[in-house]
Amino acid sequence: MPSIAQEVESTPEQVIGAALDRFNQDRVAISFSGAEDVVLIDMASKRVGTSFNVFTLDTGRLHAETYEFIDRVRDHYGIQIDVLSPDNWEVEELVREKGLFSFYRDGHTQCCGIRKIASLERKLGDLDAWITGQRRDQGATRTSVPHEQIDTAFSTRNHEIVKFNPLASWESKDVWSYIHEHQVPYNVLHDRGYKSIGCAPCTRPIADGEPERAGRWWWEQEDDKECGLHAQNLSRD
Ligand code: ADX
Ligand code: SF4
Repeated sequence: MPSIAQEVESTPEQVIGAALDRFNQDRVAISFSGAEDVVLIDMASKRVGTSFNVFTLDTGRLHAETYEFIDRVRDHYGIQIDVLSPDNWEVEELVREKGLFSFYRDGHTQCCGIRKIASLERKLGDLDAWITGQRRDQGATRTSVPHEQIDTAFSTRNHEIVKFNPLASWESKDVWSYIHEHQVPYNVLHDRGYKSIGCAPCTRPIADGEPERAGRWWWEQEDDKECGLHAQNLSRD
């Protein structure tokens, strides 16, 4: 696998192309939630039409605008999007025991674990590779994200999962140039000061000059801003 230094010449289109070419269509998928991911969807659709898979992790706590955005993307590209729900028993137990806002008191790990990570684990059980919109300039936990890596957080002894991050070397301005140039749909919350968008109770708009992910779990430490989807970023693997 190339090092970050060796791979700087790869364009996002080349990385997506490699992912889609190397794996059977039903074994690779784009993981969609934000602006970056629609750029990935746009690039995939330009390459293979509608012959690619997309999933999104519906925590049940997204903004109404985000749900509207998911369907707008679906209609715009004429694609199906797998909208994955968390296990209802686990959600009900958490809420019964701790209420609907336990993350403000004891951190986001448990709720994210139930509402996002378990669904992702289930989905990755049926895939060999996933494609994410992570970028190195998104914050302290992502400065070393490569274009391609073995996903050590979700691979098991018998099932290796590859993770592609085609936009790793792009900056936010590159994403937004692409969106405007190619008229890619985006979440209307971006026009209201939101930059990185997750669940409604755990995302706030940010001021000019604040770090991109400052509005995510803003009551927690900057170096802990991963929900577990990209737990690998917190390890040394
Ligand atoms: S998060 O881990 O803090 O939520 P972030 O919002 O920065 O991640 O998104 C980074 C990438 O993770 C996205 O480009 C997308 O590929 C994936 N991702 C994040 N949230 C979701 C979600 N709810 N459903 C599917 N993929 C997601
Ligand atoms: Fe729960 Fe907040 Fe994590 Fe969403 S981001 S799953 S509401 S802790």
